[in-house]
This record gives sequence, structure tokens and C-alpha cells, in this order.
Amino acid sequence: MSLRKTLAVLATLIATGTAIPTPSQTETSSSFPHLNELAQAKGKLWFGSSIDTTSDSVKDDTYISIFNQSAIFGQTTPGNTMKWDYTEPQNGVFDFTLGDETIALAKQTGKKVRCHHLVWTKETLLGAMKTHITKEITHYGSNCYSRDVVNEAINYDGSYTDNITYAFQYAREAVQALNADIKLFYNDYQISQPGTKVTSVLNNIITNVQSAGDYIDGIGMESHHSDTFYPTVKELNTVMSEYAKLGLGIHITELDVACESTPCSTSGQTGQAQAFYNVIHACMETAKCTGMTFWDFNDKYNWIQPSTNDGAGDATVLWENCTAKPALTAVEEVLRGESCSVC
Ligand code: XIL
Repeated sequence: MSLRKTLAVLATLIATGTAIPTPSQTETSSSFPHLNELAQAKGKLWFGSSIDTTSDSVKDDTYISIFNQSAIFGQTTPGNTMKWDYTEPQNGVFDFTLGDETIALAKQTGKKVRCHHLVWTKETLLGAMKTHITKEITHYGSNCYSRDVVNEAINYDGSYTDNITYAFQYAREAVQALNADIKLFYNDYQISQPGTKVTSVLNNIITNVQSAGDYIDGIGMESHHSDTFYPTVKELNTVMSEYAKLGLGIHITELDVACESTPCSTSGQTGQAQAFYNVIHACMETAKCTGMTFWDFNDKYNWIQPSTNDGAGDATVLWENCTAKPALTAVEEVLRGESCSVC
């Protein structure tokens, strides 16, 4: 921008009483790659990020100015505000206020919402589960483009609980009663590499739900990885093709890559960039994988904080001060179909 233009912009900001952004705010939010536009240009439905309106992120101007740009994020997932604890804090007492806030924030900038989620693992009371599912689906209706119906229902040894099929049945019935098109998903972690958990998801959860009726549309791969332990593109392709064979849509739902020790070292940052690159690469190559979501995009607000995770953290594409990591370059490159210059 020429000096004259800059001065003219400043004069307008002063005249209108608008807060003048600091250079770092302006730079970060204007140079942040347009991930959603890039993903859509290659046929995906969205690139998004979670947001947790119970955290200070929503008061952070630089952060919000990035989140709000639909060229960057075309989708969001409430990090917490639609979980059972929030929506039904006491048995039979519903409160959708905070979830409504997330919907409003998403609508302002035309974002799709993946509503997250209806049922955690081991809910045992079918009646309570049915009421919860029906009320919540009815309340948010088509504001939710898709929904995680059941979250993390499989244990590491592959064991699981039986009520999953009922949860999906109740969810489908509630969606049909609204005459809406809301995609219903099973969401879980560590299902990005072949192994016991993937086998159980395929042979138990998906097969059972599918044989009971047309109740499930897709699978959410959470994708919480680390700088030293993450799936290869080949492993991702293998599991994604298994999910696709069953007719499931695939979403990358909670992508973050924690560094095992913090501050993240140079080699840690390289591993982190590679992990982000691999996950997005596999999704881009898989027709059934329609979108990708960061589990937040600034280390300050991500759930993996060193103080509570044995020193692990720094799991997103931006440092706390909002400057970019190599991982953000890797994400941009993979969306452009380029090789990774920082991995
Ligand atoms: C996390 C939130 O990000 C935290 O703020 C909260 O304290 C705990 O839950 N898998 C999921 C998400 O499906 O709902 C979790 O979110 C992260 C792991």
C-alpha cells in the first residue's frame, strides 16, 4: 500500500473511531493463506476450524479477524458448547444458549457447522439418551450441516458398548421428523492407521449400525497426532479406502499435532509440518473425504497445553503471538497440490 493510501485509511479509521490495528495484527490476518478457498478450488466442501466461545479466543481481535474470514475458514465446530454438560447440565434441564452463540458466530461469516456432539462413550440409560438426542437435534435443526452423533465409543482393546446403534436410530428419526438433511457421523481418535481400533470401528460400530438401518452417513477422523507419531499417507489411504468402501463420507474433524516437548524444536516443527501435510494430502486424494477442520489454529487456545500434558503442546499452525509456523506453509502447499518445502 502506498504511503498516501495508508494515510487515507488511517484518517478514515480515526474519523470513524475504529481501533487502529497494530502492524502484527494486520500482517497476520491479511497474510494468512486462504485455506477454505484453496480446498474448495480442489473440490472439497470446506476447510474449517473449531472455536470455543467459552475461552478468551473470542476476545482476541487478531484471532477473531482470522477466524471470521470465510476465505480462510468456511466451517466451524463448537469446541465445547454443544456437549452434554453444556446442553443438559442437569437431567432433563436443557440450555442451548452457548451453542446458539456459536451458531450465530458461524452464520455471520457463512460457515457450515459440524455440531459436536450428542453422546460421549458409555451412556447407559436409553431413555435419557433418546430425550437428549431428540431435543438437541430438534433445537439446532438445519443450522447443523452435519453432526457427530456418537463420540469415542471404542476402547483401545476394541471393546465397545451396545447402545451406539440406538443413538444413531434416534438421531435419524429426529432428523427425519424435521424433514432436514443433516449428515450423521461417528467420530473417534486413533483411527488413522490400520489396527485394533479401526478393525473394531469397521466390524462392530459401522457394520452394526448399517445392518440395523440407514442411520449413518460418515466417519469423523479426529486426527490428534504428534510431531514424532503420525500416520503416513499410505496408512491414511488404506483406512480411508476401508471407510469409503462401506459408503461412508469422511471428515477430518479435529486436526492438531502436538510437539512432545515445548517450546517446539526445529526438528519438532518439521515433524509437525509433515503430519499436517500427510493428513490433508490423504483427504485431498480421497473423493469421499469432503472437508478438514483444525482443532483450533492458535497454540494459546488449543486444548493441549504443556502444563497439563507433561510438557507437550504447541499443537496448531500459529504460535501464541499469532505468527505462522512451518506447519501453516505445509498446509497451504498441500492444498495447492505442491510438495512440502518445510517438511
Ligand atoms: C476437548 C476440548 O477442546 C477441551 O477444551 C475440553 O476441555 C475437553 O475436550 N476429542 C473430542 C473433543 O472429540 O470434544 C475434545 O475437545 C478433544 C478430544
